[in-house]
Amino acid sequence: MFTLNVRGMLTRKVLIPVLALSLVAASVGVLAKRSMVGAAEAIPLPTFDIPAVSEAHKASALPNVIVVATGGTLAGAARNGDKTNFQSYSAGTYKMEDMVAQLPIHKTADVSTYQFGNKGSGGYTMKELYDLSLAVDAALELYDGAVVTTGTDTMEEIAYFLDLTVRSEKPVVVTGAMRPWDVIGTDGPANLYQAIKVAGSNKTKWFGTVLMLNDVIYAAREVTKSNSHRMDTFDAPMFGALGYVDDPAVRIYRAPARAAKAGKTEWASPFDLKKISKDSLPIVEIAYNYQEAGGGAIRGFVEDGAKGIVTAGTGAGGISSKMSAARTAAIRDKGVVFVSTTRTGSGTIYDGGSGNTIGGDNLNAQHARVLLLLSLAFTNDVPTIRNWFTTFGTQDVEISVDANTFLSTSIEEPAVEAPVAEEPVVTEPTPEVSEEPAATETAAPIESEIPALEPVASP
Ligand code: SIN
Repeated sequence: MFTLNVRGMLTRKVLIPVLALSLVAASVGVLAKRSMVGAAEAIPLPTFDIPAVSEAHKASALPNVIVVATGGTLAGAARNGDKTNFQSYSAGTYKMEDMVAQLPIHKTADVSTYQFGNKGSGGYTMKELYDLSLAVDAALELYDGAVVTTGTDTMEEIAYFLDLTVRSEKPVVVTGAMRPWDVIGTDGPANLYQAIKVAGSNKTKWFGTVLMLNDVIYAAREVTKSNSHRMDTFDAPMFGALGYVDDPAVRIYRAPARAAKAGKTEWASPFDLKKISKDSLPIVEIAYNYQEAGGGAIRGFVEDGAKGIVTAGTGAGGISSKMSAARTAAIRDKGVVFVSTTRTGSGTIYDGGSGNTIGGDNLNAQHARVLLLLSLAFTNDVPTIRNWFTTFGTQDVEISVDANTFLSTSIEEPAVEAPVAEEPVVTEPTPEVSEEPAATETAAPIESEIPALEPVASP
């Protein structure tokens, strides 16, 4: 009894308060953990000093275009005052505000500027590109279109990064120059003027990001720098240009496949940067294949923490046996995701449908790297990444018309149903066409064959 009483007292006086205290402590712990998780989930987003549209520009009928400047040769200054040397200059010197002020007053757009940075294209980190993309979207909340100026060396990568991440459907036109701003025969002012014209024309709205140099417009996904010095360096080897800019007009002759999804949710890419921190952009590298290539590059990349590796293979994506062994080990030991592309400069690598190696379609290695890097920033799930490569990355054209789409007819009055004949309608032999007005035509769904209207025989 005594023992039992003591136990009961112990339970009431010691254990219950201890239990209660532990419960309180546990709840406080859970709450603290929750608030830590909450804090960790609040993504610190950069802010930008985008200039407001001026009152004068608001009052004007011209579209408002903003130039978001990052530097490059376009903003380059001749070195030692030598205005005849196209190769020795200081890139990223001039400010965009001053360069725009030196252009003739634009005929087709009101122009504002935002200096994001001022350096060579290759000097930007992927984290800075994350900021650039958010700056472009912030600018497009105020402006009708954006021109982004960059160096040409990695312009295709910067343009594709923007293409994959910018949320706005408004025109984004990337441009630059092959010759510095202040040398003889510079292409800088003309490229800048023409790019503003393309953005202001609104003709590439819903296209995603396009690149314009030397009066030629390309899709960011398709374009590549093809020559180290020539002014017509950009090319889209498998697809060609989207259009051209000439004095009378911006002409678009074909649209990228993505434009067919205009206004639909599938138009938007899966990569909404506001949902991730820039610290989650992983290391993704490119390994180049060649005669008897070793496996050291792949092993080194993995050792450096690469989560993804793009192989630029020979022909249809082939890699050497040593590279292949290194790839197998990287997948088995570290779960690295590989994308297979070709070093040939064009051609499609089809996807095998399973495993950790994904076919890069006809993305070149540097484009595929951008897509793989963004994919791995959002998920580690390989089937999801494969799906993004084979849908958003591949952009296969498929035109569909839904059941509610009707051929338009010339009828101006609302369609009236034809009277239902009591007797079977005699159609053979074909009667003479009466002078009476023909029965009202009704619009037919586009998928069905449109029956030829037979005049109804008079009873
Ligand atoms: C660079 O990419 O920044 C230098 C080369 C160029 O702009 O053409």
